[in-house]
Amino acid sequence: MLESLIHRFEQIFNQKPKVYSSAPGRINIIGEHTDYNNGYVLPAAIERRTHLLWAPKQNEEVLVFSENLNQGGKFNLKDLHPRSDRNWLKYVEGIFWVLKEEGEELTGAEILIQGDVPLEAGLSSSASLEIGLLQGLLALIKREYPPQQIAKLGQKAENEYVGVHCGLMDQFIAVLAESSTALFLDCETLHFEYVPLRLDKENLVFLVYDTGVPRSLAKSKYNERRLEAQQARDFLEKRGFPSLKTAYLNQLESFEKEINPLLFRRARHILTENQRVLMAKRALERDDFSTVGELLYASHSSLKNDYEVSCPELDFFVDIASSVSGCLGARLVGAGFGGSAIALVKQDAVEALIDKATREALKNNFPKPRCWVVSAGSKASAFWL
Ligand code: GLA
Repeated sequence: MLESLIHRFEQIFNQKPKVYSSAPGRINIIGEHTDYNNGYVLPAAIERRTHLLWAPKQNEEVLVFSENLNQGGKFNLKDLHPRSDRNWLKYVEGIFWVLKEEGEELTGAEILIQGDVPLEAGLSSSASLEIGLLQGLLALIKREYPPQQIAKLGQKAENEYVGVHCGLMDQFIAVLAESSTALFLDCETLHFEYVPLRLDKENLVFLVYDTGVPRSLAKSKYNERRLEAQQARDFLEKRGFPSLKTAYLNQLESFEKEINPLLFRRARHILTENQRVLMAKRALERDDFSTVGELLYASHSSLKNDYEVSCPELDFFVDIASSVSGCLGARLVGAGFGGSAIALVKQDAVEALIDKATREALKNNFPKPRCWVVSAGSKASAFWL
């Protein structure tokens, strides 16, 4: 793979690349819409990655070519303004911008990008691009940063340059993932632990089901949910309520009559989802996969009913999954409003699940889904060639 990418680089830029970097996409086992609420998450990287090749330039010009889009673009380091409307190039500009803000001396570069993390599928292709860019650029200028800081800079670029107010989960897992494990993260303290994923003990795998529903509304709806969650938290905080990470459901319920019903449901999702993350972590530690499966179903119904970030195509898949024997659990993954779901399923039931879901999806006039089995991949890296 690397050899043919190097060949492409030479064809496009007429010189040899000097640095290679890459970063993974992710699934999130559980803990959805909790990261920006100072809660718990439990993601795992996948083996699909964004790959980048780099050569420095002597001036301040950056030339970028995306193999996936078959499109090139360029910008000048003197000319970086947050929220410029230059679509995908914004992500690249944002990373140069964020390191410049850190006071780094940057040079121009030629960059080739190729990835197999599907775009807009809820598998975090953007964080994988941001972190691949950060690692590559830091290698190119021969600088090292602690992983937590790299994750935060990726998030800052997306929040402040690209204008998407994401939490820290996706960047964090891209920087710190270890293969065959999930990562438990407390997004308030940044305390993290690796959690074993011994799925093969019971011949289980995670299946990704990409609904093919474009997430065109996702960004505005995502920002809307962030606002609602903030309002709910402010309301509770003013009344001396403990954090939605440590409180019990009956404590929240005692406020049900006072708080706006919509904000109550948003808060209930955050509180119960945090509890499910802790339960799933404990269940994985003792290889209790049927409990993990039940928690996935419970997470989905909370995301659907309380947080309202699902869509008919995702609900349909979770229904189908629950009717296939050998499927232990399923839920939407990522921001929602389209994109993908995951299912925890016995290896020998994978085909039956894909067949049934695809057949029924087409009968319902839903887009043709794409499905694949994922295994837990490793963190971002960069090296000189
Ligand atoms: C997107 C964001 C994450 C997280 C999830 C929802 O993937 O980038 O920070 O908020 O949605 O859990």
